[in-house]
Amino acid sequence: MESGRLGLRRFTGADVGLLVGLDSDVEVMRFLTGRVTSREEVVGVVLPGMLRVYDEHPGLGTFAAEEKDGGAFVGWFGLQPTDDATTVDVGYRLNRKSWGKGYATEGTRMLIEYAFTELGMERVVADTMAVNHRSRAVMRRSGMRFARLWHEHFDEPLPGTEFGEVEYAIDRRTWEAGRRA
Ligand SMILES: CC(C)(COP(=O)(O)OP(=O)(O)OC[C@H]1O[C@@H](n2cnc3c(N)ncnc32)[C@H](O)[C@@H]1OP(=O)(O)O)[C@@H](O)C(=O)NCCC(=O)NCCS
Repeated sequence: MESGRLGLRRFTGADVGLLVGLDSDVEVMRFLTGRVTSREEVVGVVLPGMLRVYDEHPGLGTFAAEEKDGGAFVGWFGLQPTDDATTVDVGYRLNRKSWGKGYATEGTRMLIEYAFTELGMERVVADTMAVNHRSRAVMRRSGMRFARLWHEHFDEPLPGTEFGEVEYAIDRRTWEAGRRA
């Protein structure tokens, strides 16, 4: 899959180093786990989980994003299944040197288009901590709109958990109308 500046591909067992590098920046992990991910977790949990989704949910999963010009790894974009077979959840995680270039919005728009055109989905959602303003801006710029706010209990809450979690969403008809406009 390609957009103007990015190419997406599946991760393989050879990508441990890329994933460890991405998750080793505490600023990247701030609203996710609040700590870096160890190599052991990437090898034993993160990467096997990604490979399993490719097998179990054709067309879905977490995809490595690279600059078309030069091939530099910028991070990942993902489409995950939800409880509703016609809805997918979009997500993204970019290394810090790739922030501020519009890549997250570009990749998210690409996956939303893919979800509606290739996968035949009716709805795309995304969620994050309410305080993750950069992520919420990506959701808005990608055409999604605020859908709901809720509170979850965590045994070890991250700073900002008290403000809740937010979901943004776009449905097929709204997306199609936006395309015609
Ligand atoms: C969330 C995250 C992907 C957002 O990245 P981002 O760089 O802010 O978002 P975009 O790629 O859409 O870039 C938008 C910025 O690029 C700028 N930009 C520069 N060139 C651009 C171009 N050619 N096209 C569009 N925007 C451009 C925009 O003006 C905007 O700048 P601003 O932040 O000063 O307003 C990033 O912060 C991240 O990976 N965070 C860690 C992981 C995470 O929290 N993920 C979400 C969990 S749900």
